[in-house]
Amino acid sequence: MCGIYGYIGKLNAFDEVYSGLKMLQYRGYDSCGIAYFNDGFKIEKATGTLNNLKKPTEKSEIAFGHTRWATNGRVNYENTHPHVSYNGEFVVVHNGIIDNADELRQNLKVDFKSETDTEVIVNLLATLPGETDSRILQLFDLLKGSYALIIGTKGGTIYLLKKFNPLNLLINSDGIYISSDISSLKSGSLYTLNDYDAIKIENGEIINLRGEEIPLIDYTNDIKKLALGNFEHFMEKEIYETPRAIFGTYNYLEEQNNNIKKIFKPFKKLTFIGCGTAYHSCLVGLELLKDLNFEMDAHLASNYEINKPISKNHLHIIVSQSGETADCIKVAESIKAHKGKLLVITNEGRSTITRCADYVLLTKAEKEIAVASTKTYSCQVFTFAYIANKLKNENQDLDIQKLVNNLNEYLTGLNVKPLAKELKNLDKLILVGKDIDYITLLEASLKIREIDYVYTLPMYSGELKHGTLSLIDENSYVLTLNTSENKNKLKTVINEITSRGGNVVECEINLPQNQIQPCFKPIFNILPFQLLSYQIALEKGLNPDMPRNLAKSVTVE
Ligand code: G6P
Repeated sequence: MCGIYGYIGKLNAFDEVYSGLKMLQYRGYDSCGIAYFNDGFKIEKATGTLNNLKKPTEKSEIAFGHTRWATNGRVNYENTHPHVSYNGEFVVVHNGIIDNADELRQNLKVDFKSETDTEVIVNLLATLPGETDSRILQLFDLLKGSYALIIGTKGGTIYLLKKFNPLNLLINSDGIYISSDISSLKSGSLYTLNDYDAIKIENGEIINLRGEEIPLIDYTNDIKKLALGNFEHFMEKEIYETPRAIFGTYNYLEEQNNNIKKIFKPFKKLTFIGCGTAYHSCLVGLELLKDLNFEMDAHLASNYEINKPISKNHLHIIVSQSGETADCIKVAESIKAHKGKLLVITNEGRSTITRCADYVLLTKAEKEIAVASTKTYSCQVFTFAYIANKLKNENQDLDIQKLVNNLNEYLTGLNVKPLAKELKNLDKLILVGKDIDYITLLEASLKIREIDYVYTLPMYSGELKHGTLSLIDENSYVLTLNTSENKNKLKTVINEITSRGGNVVECEINLPQNQIQPCFKPIFNILPFQLLSYQIALEKGLNPDMPRNLAKSVTVE
């Protein structure tokens, strides 16, 4: 699962691909590589991020490359893309997973240099009979699984193939660009490949091997250059951008105004679906909409299957920051196949999942770079709070300026550094809370796991005594959160822990004096934990923007 980027044109192709891949590192940063054409393809590869990649001195007008998140084969130089066929005829980069790679590998009588399924593709291609175009098309019959591929031949012809994983082609006055993510492309004429498209680029000519036209649309990339400004990391910057992101999301939702009521009116049942952080915002959504008389449930996308017809009263709501998460896309396709209605809430308006949606609501958080979602989570929660208000006709109470001011004031006043110092040597942490606080702690736990590599266990407070108390000794740390009016609620639990020698950190959430509507409280409550996970990472000397083993967008199942 990875980012792939290519360029053919008059500029220095290696440099164009290098800067394109920089924008795709959110899809993986275990290792990277670029193939550039100069009398045959030459390859530069490195483990780690693009900073480790050597830039060649020679110029090239054709190049393509890859930034990897390992699925098949460990992180090492051999497994890093691009991969070359045993006879040097083809070079490939791949995003996706080939399900029948082991079987194909056994039947190919060639020496493999890597453990990857990608090298199987390129060696399979090299052993097929016939003209190159027809060999390329045969891949669709032979490869099971999902793939977006750029294949280069030793003569400098480029082929693009797509099944399930996204791939885009863009033409402008500088040349032809290829990318697995539209937002990494410059402005120009765009074509988003369809499944089973096979495109050949030779001597500047672009041909669809299936003979169909390539319909181009105008595309303007208005994404501002992303810079850290005064911040040390994107994660910190993005947490502090939360108030602005909420303001942007509010303005957008106001423009949708009557749409929201229209979207929800025909439905009696709502099913919320997401992965990781987005799933947690779904759980908050369930809480926020609970008085509205919908029948509701929430599921992890990787654990949701539809095996009966979907009733016309039933709306599925998929939440995905990127709109590219493979587990979510699979569910979206299944909803469409069962003729169900789908609302997508995403930060990326042109993402793959929006193409399956009947309705789209955008979070206007602007680009999020750090792997851990922060401002987008808050915008997802805000969207649910806004929907709940709208459907309850309570929108007149929403004073956005006051909310934004309160958030700014609250963020400025937060100082989690002392707690981060206290917790920095922990390798495990139990977090306990009740009701909606428990959901905040689910998300807090995920942040501390993702960024700080601490084993975290979020618990319902009442459940601690039913087994987990056996973990408590004088080395244990338990973090408690209680934002309910009843301050005695967690008292017994705290006593149970301290009387067994455990350490308790009671997280005080002191909201600004101005009254805050209850539906917005989960946005305030998560902020100290996002900052805490960030500060612990700094204390431990970790890079919070690129935690080990992870990727921001997981485009494989
Ligand atoms: C990955 C990321 C998580 C994220 C999840 C869902 O696993 O590491 O931080 O929450 O994907 O991403 P999405 O783009 O669908 O919200």
